[in-house]
Amino acid sequence: MRHLLLAVLSLALPAGAAAQAPPFPEKDMMTVGVYYYPEAWPRGQWGRDLANMKRFGFEFVHMGEFAWAFMEPEEGRFDFEWLETNVRLAAEQGLKVVLCTPSATPPAWLSRKHPEILMVDARGRRMAHGSREHATWSSPVYRQYVERIVTEMARRFGDNPAVWGWQIDNELSHYGRNYSYADVDRDRFRAWLEARYGTIEKLNGAWGTAFWSQRYNGFDQIDIPNPDELVAAPNEHALLDLQRWFAEEAADYIRFQAGLLRRHVRNQWVTTNFMHLHKEVYPPLSAKDLDIMTWTLYPAHGDLNEGPLGFRLGDGTSISFMGDFMRSITGLHGLMELQPGQVNWGSVNPQLLPGAVRNWILRTYALGSRLLCTYRYRQPLFGNEQYHYGIVGTDGVTLTSGGEEYVQAMREVRLLREKRPPAPQEPARYAARRTAFLYNVDNRFDLDNHPQTVRWSTMGHLLKYERALKGLGAPVDVITEDKDFSPYRFLVAPAYQLLDAALVERWRAYAEGGGHLILSLRTGTKDRNAHLWEGPWAAPVLDLIGARVAFYDVLPPPLQGRVLSPLSGRAYDWAVWAEVLKPAAGTTVLARHGDQFYAGEAAAVTRRLGRGSVTYVGVETVSGDLEREIVRRVFTKAGVAIDDYPDQLFVDWRDGFWIASNFSSTVQAAPIPAGVTPLVGSRRLPPAGVAIWTEAAPARAIGR
Ligand code: GAL
Repeated sequence: MRHLLLAVLSLALPAGAAAQAPPFPEKDMMTVGVYYYPEAWPRGQWGRDLANMKRFGFEFVHMGEFAWAFMEPEEGRFDFEWLETNVRLAAEQGLKVVLCTPSATPPAWLSRKHPEILMVDARGRRMAHGSREHATWSSPVYRQYVERIVTEMARRFGDNPAVWGWQIDNELSHYGRNYSYADVDRDRFRAWLEARYGTIEKLNGAWGTAFWSQRYNGFDQIDIPNPDELVAAPNEHALLDLQRWFAEEAADYIRFQAGLLRRHVRNQWVTTNFMHLHKEVYPPLSAKDLDIMTWTLYPAHGDLNEGPLGFRLGDGTSISFMGDFMRSITGLHGLMELQPGQVNWGSVNPQLLPGAVRNWILRTYALGSRLLCTYRYRQPLFGNEQYHYGIVGTDGVTLTSGGEEYVQAMREVRLLREKRPPAPQEPARYAARRTAFLYNVDNRFDLDNHPQTVRWSTMGHLLKYERALKGLGAPVDVITEDKDFSPYRFLVAPAYQLLDAALVERWRAYAEGGGHLILSLRTGTKDRNAHLWEGPWAAPVLDLIGARVAFYDVLPPPLQGRVLSPLSGRAYDWAVWAEVLKPAAGTTVLARHGDQFYAGEAAAVTRRLGRGSVTYVGVETVSGDLEREIVRRVFTKAGVAIDDYPDQLFVDWRDGFWIASNFSSTVQAAPIPAGVTPLVGSRRLPPAGVAIWTEAAPARAIGR
C-alpha cells in the first residue's frame, strides 16, 4: 500500500526534513465528510455552505465530481479558479478536501466532436450526451481526453496541503446498460482473449464451441456475446469471459487514472467508489492501485427487506457482508456515499425510520470504516435528483432529519475518539470466532448466468451464511483465494461452484491442520472454465466432504420441500435448491429430507478430517435457520463460545468498543453487561437503535 510505503519512507527521512503524516491516523478512527457541488450554487453561497458544514461537524468536503464542463469549458481551455476558491474556502474552515476526477461526465463538446467515445448498448444504440457513465473506458480517444483533464487537476492540486485525497470517476459501471458493444470494445475484448488463450484452439476448448457448431477459426471472428442479437441463449463460457474481461477492463481504467494522479500528487491518497454488492466491477482487482477501498451505500429505496420496518431501515446483513468484504481486501476501507434521507431513484423512495441514518453511520464504524462521506450536502433544486434529500433541505441552510442524525452521530464519533482506550485488544472470545468467508466473483457470474431455477439468487444464498455468522457474534473477513486461510479457525465457502484441484487441496490441508471448513450446495460442480467434470457430480470435493452428491432437485414455485434435523428435531422448508447426498462411512448426517421421493436421504453432512472438520450443507432453507443451526454446531463442536443474537441485531467490536445496531422491526436488548453504563444509547434498543459500550464481553454469551 502506497500510504504505508510513505509512512515507512518518512521514517527514513534525514533529520530536519518534514515528516509526512499518515493519511488515516489510527486516532481519527473514522473521518466524516460530505459531497458538495459548488458549480451548481451561486458563488456568494460557497463560503456560507462550507462554514455550515464545519459548524455541523463535518471534517472533509468532497468536490469536483461530474464537473468536467466547468473545469474545461472548451477543449484545451481550463478553468479551475472556482475549484481553487472552494478548496481555499474549505481550508479556511479547517475542512480537508477530497477531489474527484470528473471523467464520469464528459462535456458536450467532447461527445459532439468524438461520438466514438460513447458506449453502444446491446441493441446497437449509441448513448447520447446528457447523463453519465455513457463513455466507454475502452476508447483510446476518451482515455486521451481523460488523461488531459486528470493531469491538469493533479498538477494544480497534487501538492495542495488542503487536499487530503482523490476519488477516481464515480461508481464505475454503465448503470445497468452493460455492456458496451462498440468496435473499440470488441477489439479490446478480442485482444484480451488472445492474450488469455494464445491460440484459437485453446479458446474453442475453453468455450466448448463444439456445441451448436460455434467453432471459431480466428479471434477476428469473435464478437462480444450479445443476448439481444442471438436467437437462442449465448455461450455460457463466452459470457463468463466477457464478465471477467469487463471487470479487468474497469480495473485497468482505474489503474490508468491512478497512475496519472500519482505522477503529480504528494502525500494524498487515491480511491474510487465501488457500488454495494454490484458484481460487474470487482474491487479486489484494484487492491494494488488504490490506497483505500471505498464503496457507496443506499440501504432504503423501496425493497421490503426484513420485518415490517425493513423498508425504512435497509438490510443489516447485506451491509455487513459488503463492509466485511471491502475491509478485508487491504485492511483499509471507507464508505464514500451514504444516503442521508429519501432518494429519488428507487422503485419507491420512502421516508427513513427516524434513527436509520445514525444507525448506518455507526454500523459502518463497527465494520471498520476509516472514512465516511454522505451523499449529499444540499438537496438539488434542479436536475434528475431533485427529490434526493441532503444534509440541508431546499433552503440550503436548514438541517433535514438525516442531517440532524449526522450531527448527532459525528458528535458520538468524536466522543469515541476521546474515550478510546490507549491500546485496545480485541477480546479473546470475539477473536476466537473470526471467520473467513471465501468469495470469488467468478462463482457469482457463472451461477447467475445459469441459475437452473428462477428461485436462485447467488447473493441470497451467500447472505444466509453471513446472517448465521453474525447471529453467533462472529467477526467475518470476506476474503479472496489469494489470502492465507490459516489465521482463521473457520472457513465458509458457500456455493463455490468453480474450482480446481489446487483449491481443494488447500481446503483439505486447512481442515487437516485444525480448521473447520463449511461448504454448501453447488460447490465444486465445475472447473474454472465452467465445464462440468467428466466424472461423478462435483467429483473433486466428494472425498473431502465424505459423501457423494447423487443428484440435486429444484421445485417450481410455490412448492416447498422439507428437511429435518435429527439433532434439533426441527423441520425446515426449502424452496430453492436441495441435494441428495450419499454419506460415506464415518460421515455424520446433519439433515435429512422429510418429503419428496427421496425422503429419508441425507441433505447435510459433516465429518472430522485430521485435526479439523468439513461440513457440507446440500440444501438452502427458506428461513436460513438450518444453515444457522449447522454453523452454530460447527462452532460449539470446535469448543468456541458463541452468542445468540436475534436476526438483524448486530454486535461487533472495534477500537475497544462494543457496538450493537438494531436493524430489526422490534425492540431488542443490547447485550450490555450488568453494571455497565453505555457511552452511546441504552440497553433498550428500539428499531434503528444503537448502543456503544466498553467492556470485555457482551453479556449474553452462551455455549462453552
Ligand atoms: C449514487 C451516485 C451518486 C448519486 C446518488 C444518488 O449511486 O454515485 O452520484 O447519483 O447515487 O442517490
